Parts: sequence; structure tokens; C-alpha cells
Amino acid sequence: MLLSFRHLTSTKQLTRADADAILAGATAMDQVLAKGGDERLKGKVLAALFYEPSTRTRLSFETAMLRLGGSVITADGFQFSSLYKGETVEDTIRMVNQYADIIAMRHPEQGSADRAAAVSDVPFINAGDGPGQHPTQALLDLYTIQKERGKIEGLRIAMVGDLRYGRTVHSLSFLLGLFADVRFTFIAPAELTMPEKVTSFLHEKKLFFEETGDFAAGLDCDVLYMTRIQEERFADHSEYERLKLVYQLSATHLKGKKVTVMHPLPRVGEIATDVDPLPNAAYFRQARNGVPVRMALLEMLLS
Ligand code: NCD
Repeated sequence: MLLSFRHLTSTKQLTRADADAILAGATAMDQVLAKGGDERLKGKVLAALFYEPSTRTRLSFETAMLRLGGSVITADGFQFSSLYKGETVEDTIRMVNQYADIIAMRHPEQGSADRAAAVSDVPFINAGDGPGQHPTQALLDLYTIQKERGKIEGLRIAMVGDLRYGRTVHSLSFLLGLFADVRFTFIAPAELTMPEKVTSFLHEKKLFFEETGDFAAGLDCDVLYMTRIQEERFADHSEYERLKLVYQLSATHLKGKKVTVMHPLPRVGEIATDVDPLPNAAYFRQARNGVPVRMALLEMLLS
């Protein structure tokens, strides 16, 4: 199955057929992983460019490439890169095209991924562009929802926390918009509500969503997608301090509840560790799902 795109910068590009193909690919890659991986990408090189902090995303991209027999070259830390010396994103990508067969990049500026893709001859994947998009996170979130709940259509999905600056919830909302009858509950303080680019998209698609500041509204949904307040995006740090612990989930909230708790991680206080042993807690399984999803994507984009 061929994907409809060569570069992945936003989940808005994806068709339902793309989403289904990647989900099926990830399921197949879980089988490959169960056998310890294989060599189907032998000789291929992934360039992992991380100009903003990352642990999971970078490690899971690297693991995905290595489990398929490929190799990885890495540049990380903005202050050590030529971007810091004033090189444009476009020139960095043109240069890395000379070395690698595929590129994954995280960058602090919204829009940097589109600029990179516009000049890249090799497939380019956005691994997070500031408060913009994080499409591979959304794909692994989708895969996790399917695995945990057995379906996607008809589910009630609550997204909680920093919906303004959190790129994962933007990407995931666009992606879930491809599935029939998904109903959204957006839970955020007034300062951090979902941006218009997402709500107008859902309006256009005639998908149901409600917006509230009340955390309790999420506990009776099928999925409770928690997020971190994005400290690094606040111009005024005192505003961050005021909002950082606005929603805190603990085991007591989940008594008798069937809701699946997800989080892209890292968490910084919004989910207490007493939630971890509960069957509801899917966030570490979710992090693991990043590997088969990225394996599937790498293979499809390189074939
Ligand atoms: C997220 C990100 O970088 O946007 N982390 C991740 O990729 N798993 C979420 C976050 O940093 O809050």
C-alpha cells in the first residue's frame, strides 16, 4: 500500500486510507518486533535532527530504524548545531540530503517542518515543530486507542491540560477527525483552550466537541488524554506557575471508572504515580507503541 504523501509534516495531510495503512503496518511490525526485528532497511540511513529536547520520540525513531536493520546519524542540541551559527533550516536539510535516505526533525519553530519538507529530496518527517504539529505522536496515539479500546469510531475522547500550546492534541484532533462519530471533550483553563485552527476544522467536519474547564467531565469518557502544561511556550513565567498544576489526576478519581488514561509524556505532576498500577493507565504502553508505528512509517516512506 502506498501512502498519499512523501513528507509527513501534519496529520491534516493524512487520508483515512493512510491512517488505516499505518495502523495495519504497525500491527505487522509488532509481529516483527516479537521476533527481535529484521533487516529489511539494511543499508538505509535515518538522520535524526533534534533541535529541541526529546527523549521518547528520538529514542523510538532510532529504535525503529535499528530494529529494521537500518542505521542512524544524529544531530542534537541547538547550541551545538550550525542552525545556531545562523544556517537556515532549508540549508541544513539540503546538506543532510547528501548523507541520509530519510530525515526526522524536531525544531522549536512552528512552520519549520513545512519549510524543511519543501526543499527535501528524501522523505522528511516532522518530529515536532514548536507548538505546531507532532504527527507521528498522533499516529502512535491512534494505534494505542485502537489497541486499548478495540476501535476508534464512536469513542468519546477527552483532552485535558494545555490544549493551546500542546502540539500532540492538535495533531491527534485532526487525525481523529477522519473517523466517524468521534466525540471530543476539551478540558482546559480559559488561557489554554484549543486553538481556532482545530475547532474550526471540527466544525467543518461536523464533528461534535464540547469545551469546559471542568476536569470531572473527562472521567466518564472512553479516553482521557492528559497533557503537560508546556512551560517552554509561556512568555510570562508567572502565568505558567499559576497554571501548571491546574489538573491533577490521581487514583481516587478513577475508582470504578473504565476510562483509558493516556499521556504523550513527560508528565510533570498532572498524573500521580498511584495511577500507574491501575489497568486504566495506558501511557507506558503508549510510549512503547511509538516503535512499531515508526517502523511502519519508515518502511512505507522508504519503499
Ligand atoms: C510531547 C511533545 O514533545 O510534544 N512529547 C513527546 O513527544 N512524547 C509532549 C510534551 O512534551 O509535553
